[in-house]
Amino acid sequence: MVVSRALLGLSVASLAAFAKGAITANGANFTLTGDNVSYLFHVDEETGELISDHFGGPVEDFVNPPYINPSGWVDNLGNVRREFPDVGRSDFRLPAIHIAHADGNTVTEFNYQSHEVVDGKPSLPGLPATYGDDADVSTIIVQLYDNYSDVSAALSYSVFPKYNAIARSFAITNNGTEDISIERASSFSTDLPNIELDMIELQGDWSHEMNRVKRPIQYGETSFRSTVGYASHIHNPFFALVTPSTTETQGEAWGFNFVYSGSFEATAERFSNGFVRVLLGLNPLHATIPVKPGETFQSPEAVAIYSTEGVGGMSRSFHDLYRNHLSRSNYTSQTRPVLLNSWEGLYFDINDTALENLAQQTADLGISLFVNDDGWFGTDPNARLNDTAGLGDWTPNPAHFPGGFPEYVANVTNLNVANSTEKMKFGLWFEPEMVNPNSSLYEEHPDWVLHAGRHTRTVTRNELVLNLGLPEVQDYIINSVSEILDNADISYIKWDNNRGVHEQSKPSENYDYMLGIYHVIDTLTTKYPEVLWEGCASGGGRFDAGLLHYWPQHWTSDNTDASDRLTIQLGTSLAYPPSAMGCHVSVVPNHLTNRNISIEYRAHVALMCGSFGFELKPSDLTPEESAAIPGILADWEKMNPIVISGDFYRLRLPDDSNWPAVQFVSAEEDTSFVLAFQQSASIKPAPPPLRMQGLQANARYSSNAFNGTISGNTLMNAGLNIRYEVGDYQSTLIWLYKE
Ligand SMILES: *[C@@H]1O[C@H](CO)[C@@H](O)[C@H](O)[C@H]1NC(C)=O
Ligand SMILES: *[C@@H]1O[C@H](CO)[C@@H](O)[C@H](O)[C@H]1NC(C)=O
Ligand SMILES: *[C@@H]1O[C@H](CO)[C@@H](O)[C@H](O)[C@H]1NC(C)=O
Ligand SMILES: *[C@@H]1O[C@H](CO)[C@@H](O)[C@H](O)[C@H]1NC(C)=O
Ligand SMILES: *[C@@H]1O[C@H](CO)[C@@H](O)[C@H](O)[C@H]1NC(C)=O
Ligand SMILES: *[C@@H]1O[C@H](CO)[C@@H](O)[C@H](O)[C@H]1NC(C)=O
Ligand SMILES: *[C@@H]1O[C@H](CO)[C@@H](O)[C@H](O)[C@H]1NC(C)=O
Ligand SMILES: *[C@@H]1O[C@H](CO)[C@@H](O)[C@H](O)[C@H]1NC(C)=O
Ligand SMILES: *[C@@H]1O[C@H](CO)[C@@H](O)[C@H](O)[C@H]1NC(C)=O
Ligand SMILES: *[C@@H]1O[C@H](CO)[C@@H](O)[C@H](O)[C@H]1NC(C)=O
Ligand SMILES: *[C@@H]1O[C@H](CO)[C@@H](O)[C@H](O)[C@H]1NC(C)=O
Ligand SMILES: *[C@@H]1O[C@H](CO)[C@@H](O)[C@H](O)[C@H]1NC(C)=O
Repeated sequence: MVVSRALLGLSVASLAAFAKGAITANGANFTLTGDNVSYLFHVDEETGELISDHFGGPVEDFVNPPYINPSGWVDNLGNVRREFPDVGRSDFRLPAIHIAHADGNTVTEFNYQSHEVVDGKPSLPGLPATYGDDADVSTIIVQLYDNYSDVSAALSYSVFPKYNAIARSFAITNNGTEDISIERASSFSTDLPNIELDMIELQGDWSHEMNRVKRPIQYGETSFRSTVGYASHIHNPFFALVTPSTTETQGEAWGFNFVYSGSFEATAERFSNGFVRVLLGLNPLHATIPVKPGETFQSPEAVAIYSTEGVGGMSRSFHDLYRNHLSRSNYTSQTRPVLLNSWEGLYFDINDTALENLAQQTADLGISLFVNDDGWFGTDPNARLNDTAGLGDWTPNPAHFPGGFPEYVANVTNLNVANSTEKMKFGLWFEPEMVNPNSSLYEEHPDWVLHAGRHTRTVTRNELVLNLGLPEVQDYIINSVSEILDNADISYIKWDNNRGVHEQSKPSENYDYMLGIYHVIDTLTTKYPEVLWEGCASGGGRFDAGLLHYWPQHWTSDNTDASDRLTIQLGTSLAYPPSAMGCHVSVVPNHLTNRNISIEYRAHVALMCGSFGFELKPSDLTPEESAAIPGILADWEKMNPIVISGDFYRLRLPDDSNWPAVQFVSAEEDTSFVLAFQQSASIKPAPPPLRMQGLQANARYSSNAFNGTISGNTLMNAGLNIRYEVGDYQSTLIWLYKE
């Protein structure tokens, strides 16, 4: 049966072809066009179903779907590629949307109603999202309706042509008279055709974040998730699908990233017909989100990027999109001060004398930001002398600061930074979402923590998690942090978070928590835009695109071992720009791994990050190490602007090669630098030639590594041969200047 277009609600006017920016709607055939990507879907005339046609390189036409023998149990919707799969009606794959209705049934039938193309991109109420003006991005909103249960869905697709990026989210409105609940919500969902694909994702744990792993997409689900309540160290809410022949530099790569910091689920499901369904959204275990009549549920956003320039090309598009259209802090495009963090140097052994002493050493080294880590707050008997007490009580410990906290901060900010006209800047650590049971806050408000009825409130690192879904908790945090910021000259805040969520009173508390934390951070970053905010979650436990919307940088890992850090930082760079990473030089032997690595190598690893610093007591350095610091700071001065705004290339990966290397090319393309490493001493074989990327083929380059000039072609195709010193953990910094 062919239903007329009138039944689908298509007016004559909407049949006329029109285009706004990069989006064309021909009747109900939709084309989203980027510089090197096309994303096509259409409305099935018979059913009103949204059908996926293409997500990949540029195409001009809608072509027939593959013929699939309709016999057997799988028919109709089970054999088509769908944009917004729901439950019931012959599709046996995982749905993107799963709604429980008041009578207990979970079937929906979302059919096309109308669409609208708008310039720019509407913001998402209460949630982080990519943004841009009319010249950067266009959006199509497709309205769907379920006539049986009176639920509407508004699917929003935005295309950022320059970055080959599609951002998608949706809103579900309950137009009926009884409550519904959202059991599953995948912000991004599409069905790819029957092609061979591998999944690359980032798995790990505390101090072992962002390990790049790859596995083939076979029949069934290839899936991972966080049930931690946050993005977590265990899996990052990112994955790429690549063809088996895709490399760092060539081949197709589809990257998917969730702009959300809570529990998530990522899936690629290959079905019997070979199609691969892609789903990225909330973790159903932390959903069951009630939507009352007249209310709307807004899903978070997910971003998909397509590249034909391999995994590296995909990463650079993510980096550029996120720096220009996600991270809204003014610092995103600015060099960040070199800092010295007190943690690994002093741990909890602090007071004003010890801290001012460390700040003085910091100033003498020519470092301009001193960061006071944990231990500065709480009063007896809950003073934060160790990790058993004080979290939640955000008043400076009078025993540590008898002269008053503001005066201590003033003493630090009054220090002259060596070889600079600047005064020292002061930074402070917080962990506002957590509370120790040994605190005044918990004594007064035991009901403010996440808990499940009479079940034990399990502690991790002696902490419980505040329920950020509660407005009174949000206000408490906003007021406590504001109180400190209003009374002392503070330039930087490290916002830590050191445990996962265990007990919740109901699954939807995780979504409410996220709306709450975003409200708190939105309020504070808007109120204090001059503060440089850094996220941290026991290292990289919440290095995600959601928080990157508000904060320009994130602590990458508690593991500061430079060798381990290469793996962690290169993994992080799959989706997130090096400019957003915080990386520090610490003492050797490393406190976690006991490895002994030279100060040059440690610096070379940390210098590839936007926020570079030290995490040590300068008096613990050897004379040789101390003598190296002015040179390191001179390198930083030249490198940091290029790290902030340049292009990043992973030349060789630490997991594949004993000689990993990375390269940055300045935004102006006139300067480039390479950081090249030798992990262990090697008699044979010789190091492979260091073949560069991103240079201008016909330009000639001079360098600190060779006399005269060498062409871009030679550097990229033949490469340089580096002679490393004999020994483990050697590194070198090579500058290239375009003539
Ligand atoms: C939409 O695409 C289909 C092919 O999928 C084509 O038959 C139809 O003519 C197209 N409609 C318009 C209005 O372009
Ligand atoms: C798009 O393709 C062109 C030609 O292949 C290439 O030069 C350019 O770098 C690509 N851009 C992106 C963002 O992939
Ligand atoms: C769904 O209901 C709306 C109004 O309630 C109607 O206009 C439309 O034709 C219906 N669509 C289908 C496919 O039955
Ligand atoms: C559903 O409810 C929303 C919000 O009240 C309203 O904007 C929309 O028009 C309704 N949709 C239908 C099809 O009734
Ligand atoms: C401050 O801390 C330092 C280092 O632990 C210690 O030597 C000193 O006695 C402390 N001063 C006071 C007044 O507690
Ligand atoms: C300060 O500058 C002088 C002269 O350039 C240099 O010798 C010295 O090492 C610098 N000191 C620091 C701490 O950078
Ligand atoms: C840990 O901190 C608590 C609370 O301030 C304090 O009572 C206890 O003595 C501290 N323990 C140690 C070993 O310092
Ligand atoms: C609270 O403090 C006491 C005394 O320092 C300590 O024994 C206990 O372990 C602490 N409780 C927690 C949950 O950290
Ligand atoms: C600030 O520095 C002055 C001068 O060194 C010192 O006397 C005073 O105790 C310091 N105040 C604080 C709170 O550390
Ligand atoms: C941030 O940038 C905007 C736009 O350039 C500017 O109006 C604002 O004053 C800046 N804020 C701060 C704190 O520098
Ligand atoms: C680390 O290496 C340095 C330089 O080779 C050496 O002086 C030092 O003794 C080593 N330390 C350890 C703990 O191995
Ligand atoms: C450049 O040439 C000089 C003179 O021949 C030589 O001493 C030096 O080692 C060369 N430098 C490099 C980086 O090759």
